[in-house]
Amino acid sequence: MSKNDNALAQVQARAGTTPVSLGLILGSGLGHIADMVEGESFEYGELEGFPVSAVSGHSAKLVVGQLWGQRVAVFGGRAHYYERGQADAMRVPLEVLKGLGAKQVILTNAAGSFHKDIPPGDLMLISDHINFSGLNPLIGEATDSRFVNMTNAYNSEMRQKLEAAAKVEDITLKSGTYSWYSGPSFETPAEIRALKILGTDAVGMSTVPEVILARFLGLDVAAISVITNMAAGLGDETISHAHTKSMAPIGAAKLEKILRRYLEA
Ligand code: HPA
Repeated sequence: MSKNDNALAQVQARAGTTPVSLGLILGSGLGHIADMVEGESFEYGELEGFPVSAVSGHSAKLVVGQLWGQRVAVFGGRAHYYERGQADAMRVPLEVLKGLGAKQVILTNAAGSFHKDIPPGDLMLISDHINFSGLNPLIGEATDSRFVNMTNAYNSEMRQKLEAAAKVEDITLKSGTYSWYSGPSFETPAEIRALKILGTDAVGMSTVPEVILARFLGLDVAAISVITNMAAGLGDETISHAHTKSMAPIGAAKLEKILRRYLEA
């Protein structure tokens, strides 16, 4: 038995084997949605092979159950590359999600914006990404399935549905390209200028490795950034993790409305 078989068995022993339709991975300051799920809750620490994440603002638990009319698996908190230098830190959780029967995953994160018209407190629907870290969670994977096609990584049907949900809720949801910076230090203004030339619309320290893993596993993917600040050198506020956590709830309220519409539809 591999680690994910054990973790999957642990989850199904308590949560049952009824398939989930969708997975949600929640970023910094967005974990409260996990508490809205009616079902079984698991600390990452009790599931074999799950990462131990210790980033404040992330509640590292998996909740499997009902949310807004759907059976879902919600990952409150993620492990990041910058915690232990493992780009595949979320591989076992995503394998468990696949094992639970999910066809889709929606990822969320906190990010810095490159555009005045996507200000802090707004959301950005990720349409594509740039792997600026150069790292990859599939390094070491020995099968040919490691050669994942990333052309339509962000599923157009899911994006359309999320845009429609935002429209009904009268929430502005612009789309853009997200760049993954390894962290944990924030970017320099020079790096932000470089990322802008490359075509970046928002920058953050997560999500890209999970998108690669999710596509590897055959899951359809969508992702939304909660903008907590203007990227380094582009705004007046001092960038910090405390600021990220304090700003995240503003976008989180919008995110919650969009996800509710999406799941209820
Ligand atoms: N850079 C990287 N990660 C982030 C940022 C940022 O400006 N804001 C929130 N997460």
